[in-house]
Amino acid sequence: MTAAVRTDPAVVEVSLGARSYEIVIARGAIASLGTRIAALRSGAKTFIVTDENVARHVLPAAETALAQANVAASRIVVPAGEKSKSYRVFEQVCEAMIASRIERDDLVVALGGGVIGDLAGFAASAVRRGLDYVQVPTTLLAQVDSSVGGKTAIDSAHGKNLIGAFHQPILVIADSAVLDKLPEREFRSGYAEVAKYGLLGDAAFFSWLENNWREIFAGGGSSGSLAREQAVAVCCRAKAAIVARDERETGERALLNLGHTFGHALETAGRYTTLLHGEAVAVGMVMAAKLSERLTMSSQADTERLEQLLKAVGLPAALPDGSDPDKLLALMRLDKKNIAGTLRLILWRGIGRAEIVTGVDEDAVSTVLREAAWEDG
Ligand SMILES: NC(=O)c1ccc[n+]([C@@H]2O[C@H](COP(=O)([O-])OP(=O)(O)OC[C@H]3O[C@@H](n4cnc5c(N)ncnc54)[C@H](O)[C@@H]3O)[C@@H](O)[C@H]2O)c1
Ligand SMILES: [Zn+2]
Repeated sequence: MTAAVRTDPAVVEVSLGARSYEIVIARGAIASLGTRIAALRSGAKTFIVTDENVARHVLPAAETALAQANVAASRIVVPAGEKSKSYRVFEQVCEAMIASRIERDDLVVALGGGVIGDLAGFAASAVRRGLDYVQVPTTLLAQVDSSVGGKTAIDSAHGKNLIGAFHQPILVIADSAVLDKLPEREFRSGYAEVAKYGLLGDAAFFSWLENNWREIFAGGGSSGSLAREQAVAVCCRAKAAIVARDERETGERALLNLGHTFGHALETAGRYTTLLHGEAVAVGMVMAAKLSERLTMSSQADTERLEQLLKAVGLPAALPDGSDPDKLLALMRLDKKNIAGTLRLILWRGIGRAEIVTGVDEDAVSTVLREAAWEDG
């Protein structure tokens, strides 16, 4: 990774032919929302989808930026949280878009975290058979992960993200200043996804995080803000490169799921109330490291470095108390990434060297979960 200090916005290109777009990363970038939209789509109206927390903290700045560039804007504010990724709220958003007379050349603006990005992006993919949209991610998780790559979805009674579409945005604006308002636990949870990029393919970035996490968390002032932007840029560059090579996840895009099969099992076991997504992924990455170690793919020293990095910022690195290893394994068997009834997991050969492994030995997974539950429970 590059460690150069910069004051201009970092711009990361997502190269997808005619569907290519830019991710603009800078403190205060939201002020350029109107001018960038006007430059991309002269005369377009916008329809903003946001949630009640983001409406309080970020919407005024977005609306001001649009007004200053004479871009017309209407909006819908939905309840905060995963429950808004539902058929009911999806319908409300689509109907509100149509009622606002949004047309084919107009734009949807997804202003919020991953929930809003997924919901607004999916509504944009469907209304009038597809409207273009702009992502303005306001959580760390959304800035480094969900706003890039074009996966959009709502949840089904059968599971999360089961109804959706691939629909790429035409622009992403990641303003590090909006993260100052994010509750600390949400920020920390997003940091687990930041660490994931180091683990899966960039050992130098992992080392940089070991040395710079304090600045990333401090944010605010100039050095903290730069470290934050730099981290977001590295993650976006990594995701953009993977998405450009494998947009529809037929191959290497699955590497982005490092820690997620264990993590989803933990989220489901806790009924989505005990752990935030990134917290579950943090524990999941440690479990993947322990399993890699057991399969003699990686060393104990690598696992310990990962645990250190997570614990330093207050992320969990161990199974929650009372975890049931058999139940977790049963949930992992249901993962949609499995192939022909055998476990397919993202494991690693050490920091920065993740691999997709099919036909993982269930006994080894069971042993690792049992040992972890025994140690931690
Ligand atoms: N599409 C993808 O590729 C992808 C990838 C990862 C995750 N996701 C999805 O993302 C969702 C999780 O995203 P998330 O963690 O951003 O959750 P979220 O959107 O629910 O945001 C978390 C909380 O922070 C609040 N918030 C957001 N921005 C804020 C700000 N700047 N200041 C104050 N509060 C703010 C929200 O109102 C919410 O309460 C899940 O539904 C997950 O499935 C999608
Ligand atoms: Zn994730």
